[in-house]
Amino acid sequence: FDVVDLIRTKRDGGVLSDDEIRWLIRAYTDGGVGDEQMAAMAMAIFFRGLDGRELPTWTTAMINTGERMDFSSLSRPTADKHSTGGVGDKITLPLAPLVAACGVAVPQLSGRGLGHTGGTLDKLEAIPGWRASLSNADMLAQLEDVGAVICAAGTGLAPADKKLYALRDVTGTVESIAMISASIMSKKIAEGTGSLVLDVKTGSGAFMKTRENSDALARTMVALGKAAGVNTVALVTAMDAPLGRSAGNACEVAEAVEVLAGGGPADVVDLTLALAREMLACAGVDADPAEALASGRAMDVWKRMIAAQGGDPDSPLPVAQHTEVVRAASDGFITSMDAMAVGLAAWRLGAGRARKEDPVQAAAGVTWTAGVGDRVSAGQELFRLSTDDADRVPRALEALADAVTIGAERVDPGPVVLGAC
Ligand code: URA
Repeated sequence: FDVVDLIRTKRDGGVLSDDEIRWLIRAYTDGGVGDEQMAAMAMAIFFRGLDGRELPTWTTAMINTGERMDFSSLSRPTADKHSTGGVGDKITLPLAPLVAACGVAVPQLSGRGLGHTGGTLDKLEAIPGWRASLSNADMLAQLEDVGAVICAAGTGLAPADKKLYALRDVTGTVESIAMISASIMSKKIAEGTGSLVLDVKTGSGAFMKTRENSDALARTMVALGKAAGVNTVALVTAMDAPLGRSAGNACEVAEAVEVLAGGGPADVVDLTLALAREMLACAGVDADPAEALASGRAMDVWKRMIAAQGGDPDSPLPVAQHTEVVRAASDGFITSMDAMAVGLAAWRLGAGRARKEDPVQAAAGVTWTAGVGDRVSAGQELFRLSTDDADRVPRALEALADAVTIGAERVDPGPVVLGAC
């Protein structure tokens, strides 16, 4: 095939044949098709999309550039969760041990954060000694023994996506429903989970700002998963305000532990339980996650899961060298809290990275004690900023300048789960 012909076909609104797609993905992965050519193709797909035949073929072609994991030797069913990314989204931390405590193995391959949404591995690395990297054999052994693993995805899964995602990131072509779906689902299908629950975020702090686009992304990913034999469902969940009461690394681990201890913010508890119910239903296991949480069994699995990867679950978490407080300017009710602003502030404090190779600060982040619907008085603490590097504070304060609105009337924060498909 001639890659330029394929680019022209897509640019002009045509469809690519299965053979053309398979050849293109293979040739790009092997270096026969250059980054500049694939960038042009990505932009053509950004505008033209991939149709109902092209998209599964594209996804399968990406899976076939790498290895597939196999959990069929485990004595229990497997279920995984993927979130499209939000601010304060620490749900994986309590969810994986909770679902494992109910009898389903959770192979949670996670990533690091880039930009305003944090990465699960960055959060867990705040725990002294904890290691993100496991061999496939160690992962399988931990899944059988403990029931839950949260670890770094190896480089062997869908290498075509790794290369293409990095290219999309620097060519303004990330925000395509077709390419996001293929990217996420190629990794999840290659991972070999039996069931998958997608948490598709919607709102100002999410990739997809509108409900319509979030629903379309959810439907597209569910169809890809089902076509590949993975029992897939999606919840569409709110991401206008940040989740819980913290955004950062150690502070989000602390909040997850509160949830596992039976406390924690209502939205985090609600979303954790809603996703757990979906994962258990998909895996065909009849168990009550609320009971597993209340009984402390989920906490037991958490401690074993952290210890199995070298971490000390009882060790104190790192504390930042500098803190700064933002106070309420007036009396009233919090009517909105901007997830994007809070995510940006946490990122600027050092919880996230600007470039892939940058380190993150374990203790950096933003915490708050009042959220949407809560009454505050003038002078009351709204946000507490933490960082090891005081120079970072002014820019974080700037991000938070208009993050909260306070009004005279109480507004209801609304449900976290908005819909399912
Ligand atoms: N996350 C992914 O893994 N891929 C995308 O394309 C977007 C988000």
